[in-house]
Amino acid sequence: MRIELSFVQQWEIGAELLVVLAVDKQKGKGSGDKAVPVLLTVDEVVQAAAAAVLAGGEFKAGANETLLLHAPVGLAAKRLLIVGLGKQAKMSVNAVRNAAGTAVRFAKPRGIRKICFSLPKVEGLPVVCCTRAAAEGALLGDFDPDTYRSDRKDQSVEWFTVVADSGSGRGALETALAEGTVTGESQNLARLLVNEPGNKLTPTVLGNRAADVAAEVGLGCEVYSAEKIRELKMGAFWSVAQGAAEPPALIVLRYEPEGVTDGPVLHPTDKDRSAGTPVLALVGKGITFDAGGISIKAAARMDRMKDDMAGGAAMLGAMRAIALLKPKVRVIAVICAAENMPGGNAQKPGDVQTAMSGKTIEIINTDAEGRLVLADGLSYARQLGATHLIDAATLTGACIQALADVYAGLLSNDENACAKFQSVLEVSGEKFWRLPLGEEFADMMKSDIADVKNSAGDNGDASTAAELLRLFVEDTPWIHLDIAGMAWIEEARPYLAKGPTGFAVRSILEWVRSYSA
Ligand code: BES
Ligand code: MN
Ligand code: ZN
Repeated sequence: MRIELSFVQQWEIGAELLVVLAVDKQKGKGSGDKAVPVLLTVDEVVQAAAAAVLAGGEFKAGANETLLLHAPVGLAAKRLLIVGLGKQAKMSVNAVRNAAGTAVRFAKPRGIRKICFSLPKVEGLPVVCCTRAAAEGALLGDFDPDTYRSDRKDQSVEWFTVVADSGSGRGALETALAEGTVTGESQNLARLLVNEPGNKLTPTVLGNRAADVAAEVGLGCEVYSAEKIRELKMGAFWSVAQGAAEPPALIVLRYEPEGVTDGPVLHPTDKDRSAGTPVLALVGKGITFDAGGISIKAAARMDRMKDDMAGGAAMLGAMRAIALLKPKVRVIAVICAAENMPGGNAQKPGDVQTAMSGKTIEIINTDAEGRLVLADGLSYARQLGATHLIDAATLTGACIQALADVYAGLLSNDENACAKFQSVLEVSGEKFWRLPLGEEFADMMKSDIADVKNSAGDNGDASTAAELLRLFVEDTPWIHLDIAGMAWIEEARPYLAKGPTGFAVRSILEWVRSYSA
């Protein structure tokens, strides 16, 4: 999809499809239930063309509601599509992002290949933010998970033109559009990978894909396999990989911005963190298929477990965007890729593993494997000089129980890093809910035979799993994102195909940018 900017008057645009947004200005209870749909345009010709149908009351401007007019009177465009943003009081840039996706998903199956999308004029929604969000939403809406379908029609929308008011400055909007294109494409990269089945995307293949992306955008990249993982004494990571015929992959990506690399590298144990330049580390769970191991999962919906590398994919997507948007802060990524299989060499419940840090872990349930690979991934990131850690993982069913596919879990040992993360969520438009860490949860993970056990059962597992990770993070500021409920949606939304979502790419990227010097 090509994305471009235009300043042509809306009524003059000779598009296949002109999109204009609308909002419901209903004040609330006092005004009755009747919606008050209002077009967000100053173009009087467009207003007039839509006046009758808006007055008719069939269109309520609900979020992502659509209304199509053919041959709109007075307009050069062949069709006018009105997309609702919902109640005016709840207006947000995210609603604009979704509306752009909705417009694209409306056009795709109808064979419409060129869309002109008018930016809304609304107080409190800066036009640059809307521009960026529109580009993101369009790209995200264009994605479909039909990679291996022979009847794939490749219905991609070819042109998405963002139409701005002639009063807005071109430079800033061009930048916003370019940024939105980078983020949207990077999030779609994560979705593409998450969608790949386990037989096509093994840990080795994921490593190759990471190396390709790195070469394309200019990131440092090393991909290690079994030998190096054993050499580093990553006993927790290795214990998951040992049950599979496919070898694991330890993927390391490095982003070194110009002019920032000269400062002293902080060691994770250095007390004075203001002395050096920060090194942010993104650690991702990359289980390319999670059968559960010897504690094997039930058959129902096990196919979904191909998405258990969504955390790793999110990190790769974020690193791609970082390489292209060039924030002034050093960033490394560590992705621990493995299959969790019940092979003859698989680890067994009751086994004790020694992690890279030297801590011992009793394996209660081999299906609690994500925390094992992350434990060593986090240790390794610290060894590489990380001053701040963030991890993303489809880690626990318990997190889905608590938050469904509405919020991702957010857990942290550091108020500053966490507050910084929460402050970028309005820009990213992604929802996280903070869940607790605490001594009681750590106590639940105590083992009779080893330093810690890998499972205390399902109750409170979003927190107990995070407490295991905390042992390996030690005192490094750290954010843990449990995206188990968010990585995949079973039902399509008007602006998003069903399947992989690429969730967390945008938030991780913005968090990194908030450290830019
Ligand atoms: N990858 C799963 C978590 C998961 C479950 C993600 C369902 C998406 C949908 C993880 O490896 C896992 O199996 N966790 C177990 C932990 C339990 C054994 C303590 C779980 O949540 O059931
Ligand atoms: Mn598992
Ligand atoms: Zn898993």
